[in-house]
This record gives sequence, structure tokens and C-alpha cells, in this order.
Amino acid sequence: MTVIRKATLSDLRDLCTIERRCFERKRFSEDHMRWLLENPDVTSYVFYNEDGIVASMILMRLGRIGKVISLGVAPGHRRRGIATQLMALGEREMRDCGAASMHLEVGVTNRAGIRLYEFLGYETVRKMPEYYSWGEDALAMKKPM
Ligand SMILES: CC(C)(COP(=O)(O)OP(=O)(O)OC[C@H]1O[C@@H](n2cnc3c(N)ncnc32)[C@H](O)[C@@H]1OP(=O)(O)O)[C@@H](O)C(=O)NCCC(=O)NCCS
Repeated sequence: MTVIRKATLSDLRDLCTIERRCFERKRFSEDHMRWLLENPDVTSYVFYNEDGIVASMILMRLGRIGKVISLGVAPGHRRRGIATQLMALGEREMRDCGAASMHLEVGVTNRAGIRLYEFLGYETVRKMPEYYSWGEDALAMKKPM
């Protein structure tokens, strides 16, 4: 059985664990994660299966823009459509809240991320040089709703 639900402050520790399992460098601190969970413009989701919380997604609404802040599926649970399910739900909820388009940034070396977002219909709008603190460029991607 799988469940997707909105995350609350009580999920702080699990969300940080998913971040650590999914991202080598681009990890949010516990303080930043707490700020996200308390921000009224942010909606966070957790995905459960028989192993517990194995994926999470954090979205922010900025006027008519829906922004993907973070998306991670734990190793061992990938390529089973979990990110696709989370993004479908998140896009639907952003659209219902008035978002006209979805936006995100993904590292140029993150092949899985780029392929996922292309698979979901996102297009690269520009390259952002040295976007990340460690110097990696990012692709800014967008999908009209
Ligand atoms: C990127 C990530 C979220 C994908 O999650 P996932 O649940 O495995 O993705 P899905 O199963 O929904 O994949 C859907 C499609 O995306 C593409 N895709 C996903 N991962 C891929 C990979 N490693 N290589 C190539 N294509 C990939 C495929 O087209 C896939 O369809 P298919 O499996 O039928 O071929 C996961 O690999 C992850 O958490 N990575 C680390 C964190 C990260 O990079 N997050 C995204 C940037 S913020």
C-alpha cells in the first residue's frame, strides 16, 4: 500500500533523512527545513510505502508560479513511478491554487533529474552558471499548466 500526504512539522526529522539519502551536496539544514514547513506559501508532501517514508516533495507558490523546491526518492525505491506520482499531485494542487506554470532548477550533471523532468513535460528555458554553492551550473526548467 502506498500513501501520499501533506507533511507537517512532525515530519521534520523524516524529511531531513530523505534529503540526506537523496542529495550528496544540495541538502537543506534542519532549520531551513523547519522554515519551509512553517511557510504558508510552501506545501510539502511525503510518500509512504511498507518501508515508511521513502520520498518527499516540497513546492512553493509564488503568485502565478509553482516552484519545485525539492524532490527526492530514496535509493532502492527509484524507477517505480514515485516521483511521477508526487509531481502529478503537486502540479494538480498548484494549478488548483492558481499557478499558471511550474518552474524548477536542476543541476546540469543530474541526469536522472533532467530526464525525469523532461519525461514530465518540462523544457529548459536557460542555463544558470554556477547556480549552486559548489560551482555547478543549473538548468532552469518550466512547464505551462
Ligand atoms: C530524480 C528522482 C527524483 C527520480 O525519481 P523516480 O521515482 O525514480 O522517478 P520515476 O520512477 O517517476 O521516473 C519517471 C521517468 O523519469 C525518467 N528517469 C527517472 N530516473 C531516471 C534515471 N536515473 N535515468 C534516466 N531516466 C530517468 C525515466 O523516463 C522514467 O521513466 P521510466 O522509469 O519508465 O524509464 C530520483 O532519482 C532522485 O531522488 N534522485 C536524487 C534527488 C534528485 O536528483 N532530485 C531531483 C532534482 S531536485
